[in-house]
Amino acid sequence: MAENDDTRGFLISFEGSEGSGKSTQISRMARRFEDAGYDVVVTREPGGTPIGEEIRHILMHSDKSSEMCPETELLLFAASRAQLVREVILPGVAEGKIVLCDRFMDSSTVYQGIARNIQSEPVHIINTFAVGEMVPDVTLVIDIEAEEGMKRVRHRANDMPDRMEEENIAFYQKVRNGYLMLAKAMPERFIIVDGSLQQDELEQVIWKELRQRVI
Ligand code: TYD
Repeated sequence: MAENDDTRGFLISFEGSEGSGKSTQISRMARRFEDAGYDVVVTREPGGTPIGEEIRHILMHSDKSSEMCPETELLLFAASRAQLVREVILPGVAEGKIVLCDRFMDSSTVYQGIARNIQSEPVHIINTFAVGEMVPDVTLVIDIEAEEGMKRVRHRANDMPDRMEEENIAFYQKVRNGYLMLAKAMPERFIIVDGSLQQDELEQVIWKELRQRVI
């Protein structure tokens, strides 16, 4: 954490199920931090580096991805993350920047571990190997009801849903419960906000929480 080192930046991860509104709030927070005088880096998982974006394509859009087993999926997410940490996050934080990351290690714990039933121990070991010391300073979960998340995804104006978005309601429910469980277990790192709020109001709530921790 930054208490001992004034020059170190912050890693803030944003988590939540599909349709929770993460992307909108991440760009709003980037603007808020920039207005407050910080250098901000916005990145995402899977992806965020040239290698990570290639891995993202295999995970989400390859015509072979329906054949992918959960273990392969876990390792590919971790590979993208390992690259992102070393190429973007570590240097950014070392230079004193605020790094806002759309999903990070907790997505693997929840999606691969809890929702796809891989045992928690290998998920933890692989996650730890991928991130090294780079655990987020703050993880913000935008919480929405599973039904609402599914509804929002179906109404998105873009093309075909990707592989992940085609999951059923039980999957969304497991994801939601997974995040709530993690937040309960690690209250010092996690903040949960109510994703059913209207965007402007949600922005105020998130900004209030983040500025308390960072500024
Ligand atoms: P994306 O298109 O980035 O959308 P969003 O984050 O808005 O949902 O989707 C990333 C998908 O990958 C999402 O369904 C969650 C999933 N995912 C995992 O299953 N494990 C992971 O470790 C990560 C980073 C993402």
